[in-house]
Amino acid sequence: MGKYCKILVPSLKNIFICVLIIKYLYLGDKRIFRRKTYLHNLLSYSKEVPFETVNAGVEFNSFADNLKKMPEAPYVIMFDSSNIDVLYNHICNLKFIPNALSRVVTIAFDKDAHLNLQDKYPHIPNTLIDLAPLKESLKSVGENHGYLTYSLVLMVRVKICASLAQRGINFWISQQDTIWTENFQMLNIEDMYPEAHLIMDKIGNESPYYDRLRMWACGATFFVRGSPTTYQYFKQVESYMFTYQSPDSSIMTYFCGHSGYKCEFLPHSVASSSNYFETTREYVPALIQLDGEKKYKETKMDTLTRGKFNFQFKNGTCNVDVYRNAKENAKTAYLEAIGRWPIIPETRFVQIQYFLKTLFNVDPLNRKAFMKYHYVLM
Ligand SMILES: *[C@@H]1O[C@H](CO)[C@@H](O)[C@H](O)[C@H]1NC(C)=O
Repeated sequence: MGKYCKILVPSLKNIFICVLIIKYLYLGDKRIFRRKTYLHNLLSYSKEVPFETVNAGVEFNSFADNLKKMPEAPYVIMFDSSNIDVLYNHICNLKFIPNALSRVVTIAFDKDAHLNLQDKYPHIPNTLIDLAPLKESLKSVGENHGYLTYSLVLMVRVKICASLAQRGINFWISQQDTIWTENFQMLNIEDMYPEAHLIMDKIGNESPYYDRLRMWACGATFFVRGSPTTYQYFKQVESYMFTYQSPDSSIMTYFCGHSGYKCEFLPHSVASSSNYFETTREYVPALIQLDGEKKYKETKMDTLTRGKFNFQFKNGTCNVDVYRNAKENAKTAYLEAIGRWPIIPETRFVQIQYFLKTLFNVDPLNRKAFMKYHYVLM
């Protein structure tokens, strides 16, 4: 009895703790609750992802067998009806590059997209993981509907990576909104880092601002050497996605910090995101993923066309001249991006903090901090 009384009798310390808790719950970060709902939804809707059935099915198995037989690591591209136009444009980009298009394999996320590509390019290995029913049932979720859909698609991508890795397939994940300005496949990146389990692209550009972020994966283009290790890696990434509101790229970055996983990062001159367009552009990367530069009401194809990266004629046939000029055009495209982020010099405090963190091995390279960057989105 005395024990309970002791709790009930208000002491100054208890009052103080109560005030802190109430302040935290009612005035604090309301996003905590939204994150909780989001993770709850993610877990329940992930049960509707049809991946396990597909993965065990005849069609996916023969698709994977095809990949295994390919003489070079395939470029795995995922798409659906909403971005098939961008995929067609990408195919026209690769068409004139020797041995590039022959390495492309695709995974469609809806039936129409699957059939349309099959019709137009019957030689491209193409399989279907139908996410249309999942997207339909997601419509009933009001809060953070878009972000939840995005996360579930990323989760499917992680599942695909795990499955291919488990089958011992070496592969590249690649995106259709990536501009190839030169023959990337000739660079033989996979042989440059023979020990690496994974080879990743990274965010940012050459400016000093990104020095601290030099091991933050972008997640558009990356290479996976299929093995039990990379299988385990993607299974870990997947399970982490259920506890952190974070995209696969930052969780992948985090696990790259674990010993046992050897990740290499591509230099910006090989692969860049739209951050490239913010630089003075002394060089042109071999690959530029166009993840930004979209103006209000523009489609991705509009943005590509504005940058002179539409590799097709109006009648849909491929235009080799656009590829020939891609390097030149990358230097003059989207000039408004230059100086978009004014570089603020680091304060001495931040420098010391960073130094101490590295010294005491507290989240060196801010990998863990990266996982929180999506918190502001909900
Ligand atoms: C498509 O348009 C281009 C340029 O106008 C032309 O050279 C080409 O012959 C056309 N192809 C077809 C199949 O109509």
